[in-house]
Amino acid sequence: MRIFIPGVNGFIGNALVRRIIAETDWYVTGIDVDKDRLERELLTNDRFEFHHGDMSISREWVEFQVKRCDVVIPLAAIAIPVLYIEKPLKVFQLDFMENLHIVEHAARYEKRIIFPSTSEVYGMVGDAHFREDESNCVTGPINKHRWIYSCAKQLLDRVIHAYRYEQGLNYTLFRPFNWTGPGLDRIEQAHKIGHSRVVTKFIANIMHNEPINLVDGGEQRRCFTYLDDGIEGMMRIIRNKDNKADGEIFNLGNPNGDLSMRELADLLIGLYAAHPRAKKFPFTAGTRVVDGKTYYGAGYQDIPMRRPSIDKARELLGWEPQTSLEDSMRQTLNWFLDLDGDK
Ligand code: UGA
Repeated sequence: MRIFIPGVNGFIGNALVRRIIAETDWYVTGIDVDKDRLERELLTNDRFEFHHGDMSISREWVEFQVKRCDVVIPLAAIAIPVLYIEKPLKVFQLDFMENLHIVEHAARYEKRIIFPSTSEVYGMVGDAHFREDESNCVTGPINKHRWIYSCAKQLLDRVIHAYRYEQGLNYTLFRPFNWTGPGLDRIEQAHKIGHSRVVTKFIANIMHNEPINLVDGGEQRRCFTYLDDGIEGMMRIIRNKDNKADGEIFNLGNPNGDLSMRELADLLIGLYAAHPRAKKFPFTAGTRVVDGKTYYGAGYQDIPMRRPSIDKARELLGWEPQTSLEDSMRQTLNWFLDLDGDK
């Protein structure tokens, strides 16, 4: 099998390609604007072909790769909330337009597409557990342009579904719920306000002994899912035993990883305190409450809670997360601390 992965250097992409090369005899072709997460060993593996470049200026090459592969997994996207607010058009162009071309090629050349939707498509729906085929997608007003990411992904989900409905496109959509783990974001980005996801941001605050910002009080909740568990779900989708993933959407999230941002801060502070580095560099700065509009900008609107139903993934893929919330956070924290060394 040959798999084509645009965005192969990303948080999910690089973990997926490492797993594929280690565990299967499949071939992978990838493209990315960066290659910092791709180790030399991987780059020189003869089952991995890497193109260093921008897919928006390599469109013919991208089309050829879709034509040549068996499965396309388009992972290139902006997925950091502050960028939805600062650069909404960039989000639209990359997350929607560039990926639309790939969806069209997949339909034209009759290739299987495994597309990363997002937990964000459910938006502010109040269901206790979000269900792939039943929950509504609830977003806010247009001037809250945080929702451009959710809407771009949602519309692509709908286009992909329509291609199946009218032309038989073979798709599977998966929805990551706050995946976390080694390589999540670049820690140096975390220093610019909001330029990373919350786990990286809190860890960077702890490492620099600066106050952790609890946006609007920190009562909002997320379900954090360990990267390896998410990648296992993707592997099951790719393997597609008995074709059970065809035409399906799967939440890949850990319903047991549910906690508020205030609780997340406490958990990370506690895990750090147990780490040897804390003896030399204790964390004493504590937490403070900040206003969401000041922190992110006027286009921000938050999601109060987000918990997946994983009944379908359990039933059709035999998948469920194996890593506890605490282990997941400990491994993520330790990875960042190891990167930093004994500074
Ligand atoms: C994320 C991103 O949109 C994507 O990574 C992804 O598609 C999706 O959700 C997902 O991973 O499931 P969100 O969970 O809002 O969205 O992103 P974070 O930046 O990780 O923020 C989580 C919560 O922490 C938000 O309520 C935010 O206001 C809060 N936060 C963030 C703080 O309280 N303090 C901070 O310093 C940063």
